[in-house]
Amino acid sequence: MSGKGSQEEILRLFRRKGGDYLSGEEISQGLGVSRTAVWKHIRQLRDQGYTIEAVPSKGYRLAEAPDRLLPAEIQAGLETQRIGREVVYFEETDSTNLRAHELGAGGYPDGTVIIADRQSAGKGRLGRRWASPEGVNLYTSVLLRPDILPFMAPQLTFLSAVAVARAIGEASGLQPRVKWPNDVLLSGKKVAGLLNEMHAETEGIHYVILGIGVNLNMRPEQFPGDLRYPATSVAIEKGSTVSRTGFARCLYREIDRLYERYLAEGVAPIIREWEGLCDLVGRQVEVDCQQRIIRGLVTGLDEDGALLVRTAEGTEERILAGDVRP
Ligand code: BTN
Repeated sequence: MSGKGSQEEILRLFRRKGGDYLSGEEISQGLGVSRTAVWKHIRQLRDQGYTIEAVPSKGYRLAEAPDRLLPAEIQAGLETQRIGREVVYFEETDSTNLRAHELGAGGYPDGTVIIADRQSAGKGRLGRRWASPEGVNLYTSVLLRPDILPFMAPQLTFLSAVAVARAIGEASGLQPRVKWPNDVLLSGKKVAGLLNEMHAETEGIHYVILGIGVNLNMRPEQFPGDLRYPATSVAIEKGSTVSRTGFARCLYREIDRLYERYLAEGVAPIIREWEGLCDLVGRQVEVDCQQRIIRGLVTGLDEDGALLVRTAEGTEERILAGDVRP
């Protein structure tokens, strides 16, 4: 077993004890290693931020785990069928979406989760950057392999938006809203962004990546000065920090539930829930579609997730991409 594998095994043994002491002998037998090796692994776990108490006659006790989004921590309490059964963690990477493309091409299974503590080149929509400082937020990509046609892939943006809104609601007790096509808002300010990508051929999809960035514990001074929109974090709105690990588990559980439902029933129930979270329907908006600006009344979403806008001339426009302004 690798050093990392042994440490994950020790954490599993600690969890099984539920806060009780675990003797050095139990660990060395459980792992099939010497007592000196056990001591070395315990020291390395402490270096990673685990608080492990040692009492000579009793052994070791895990007093506190760091909020570090480590696979073992997330998987410990995960209530999912497929999402997060495989978790790939990076202390730092350029973009979790780029890593997800590699793992997708490498045959990683449906539901694989990629997480980074920080991103050096986090990707936002329309070639923008996604601010990704360390230790405070969640930057994750979920690799899915649904048996759907390429034109249906944008539907999954609504799945991730609803899952993120549910998880933020649970973590904060506040009521997040969604903004077409891929923002989640708290108090009218952007708290999360979604960047879905896919690899497909005309006849089918190889994989879809749900790229999700949630501002969890980011402080006001950590936001870039040149943002094009008002932004916030869950902690700013709630007034206290949230556990990143707990949030990640909750998010993966909601994605898992919605994904099972999507595979069984299609996108219609997800679109209905999304519409309930969105303030746009019935409002006059302006949509910047890069080549042209469309103004009119939002009448809803269609099954492909396109925004339906009735213009003053009475035509119904079906918009697949653009920036919406009230
Ligand atoms: C947006 O512009 O609103 C989309 C932002 C998406 C950011 C997330 S963070 C995790 C994943 N990896 C990336 O590089 N981007 C997405």
